[in-house]
Amino acid sequence: MPGMGAVATTTIAGVMLARRGLGLPIGSLTQMATLPLQRRDGAVEVPLKEAVPLATLDQLVFGGWDLFPDDALQSATHAEVLSEKHLGLVAEELRAVKPMPAVFYPEYVRRLHGTHVKKAPSKADMVAQVRDDIRRFLRDEGCDRGVAVWCGSTEVYREASAVHQSIESFEDGLRHGSPEISNSQIYAWALLQEGIPMANGSPGLTVDFPAMYELARVRGVPIAGKDFKTGQTLMKTVIGPALKARMLGLRGWYSTNILGNRDGEVLDDPDSFRSKEVSKLGVLESVLAKDAHPDLYGSFAHKVRIDYYPPRGDQKEGWDNIDFFGWLHYPMQMKINLLCRDSILAAPIVLDLALLLDLAHRAGMTGMQDWLGFYFKSPMSAPGTLAEHDLFVQQVRLHDAIRRIAREEV
Ligand SMILES: NC(=O)c1ccc[n+]([C@@H]2O[C@H](COP(=O)([O-])OP(=O)(O)OC[C@H]3O[C@@H](n4cnc5c(N)ncnc54)[C@H](O)[C@@H]3O)[C@@H](O)[C@H]2O)c1
Repeated sequence: MPGMGAVATTTIAGVMLARRGLGLPIGSLTQMATLPLQRRDGAVEVPLKEAVPLATLDQLVFGGWDLFPDDALQSATHAEVLSEKHLGLVAEELRAVKPMPAVFYPEYVRRLHGTHVKKAPSKADMVAQVRDDIRRFLRDEGCDRGVAVWCGSTEVYREASAVHQSIESFEDGLRHGSPEISNSQIYAWALLQEGIPMANGSPGLTVDFPAMYELARVRGVPIAGKDFKTGQTLMKTVIGPALKARMLGLRGWYSTNILGNRDGEVLDDPDSFRSKEVSKLGVLESVLAKDAHPDLYGSFAHKVRIDYYPPRGDQKEGWDNIDFFGWLHYPMQMKINLLCRDSILAAPIVLDLALLLDLAHRAGMTGMQDWLGFYFKSPMSAPGTLAEHDLFVQQVRLHDAIRRIAREEV
């Protein structure tokens, strides 16, 4: 995991607790869900982890990079997501997970100032150093395979440019230190070159541009992204489809959040917030298909705000005000007040993505895995196709893909 902050350490500690029987991995489909299958004598629900050969929790070894040298215990303690009691039960194991020095060009995450960073004459040399890290880690830990999930901070907003269009242009950009190539893209390039599948948990470009699609194909690895769908957006992709299913109209949707963790501090920089805003705003337009229903969804207002409010820590609070209308345009309102825990919702997603991408890799699936869109706020989709945001359509696609891997009837 590049980025060993709140989400990464909550995932790591949770897996360590779960595999010792000291906690349940709630929220993880790979650990808790069943898959509906057709049998000759009727439908059955089979535990997902029995339907397909997933890696088991006791086979996992964790590693990562961060610009702070804190080990996973220190980082988890700083994040204040899990209790001292929980962390104490796996303290020794957590202490042994020490981050490797980060690739960190600070212009992509301006609010953080770390010292545990690599030095290299060019971005191409940075890629080479990360590739060395990966090989050393896999060798020292005795791993057969690797899989990566970007759990690093949200980088400032950028759109894909000329350098992102092909393998050649990207490698040229690496050699010449193109300012368009961000930290997360350097990790991603190194990981894919090493044949390691990668998922992107934040809204940045990371693995979502033509050069990366091409490299994933050439190296035969699956990729997925982007931006974990955890709290407010998860609810938006449930309520939005419900309004549409009943042909109720929408006049406006106002969403605001407060959070006080390091993620919130990074998002306090307007350019990093812009990445998140774009990711959160795309959802409703797609779910409601406004061109097909101009009377209902032709002109709704949609606003998303995030405010950094330190007292709240990881315990984010979100408010949604939904102005909708029904029969003869009579107006109605819905208010949602969501008191959630950011990393508690994100950790099972990290675990599922790691296990499912590893499975996809072994099943010979390469390039963009749009069936994993279920887990993301901004699901990647093939150029020219529309991303699906409706949670329940996404769930059907996820199930179908797993059935295909299991060679079951779809
Ligand atoms: N928690 C959620 O519900 C949720 C939902 C969607 C997306 N995300 C995204 O997941 C990511 C992680 O969230 P978090 O709450 O753990 O944040 P965090 O700030 O606790 O952790 C991020 C870590 O990444 C490190 N980092 C930043 N740049 C790096 C680099 N170049 N190399 C290595 N490490 C680097 C930081 O030092 C920090 O320790 C963020 O991008 C966030 O936006 C989280």
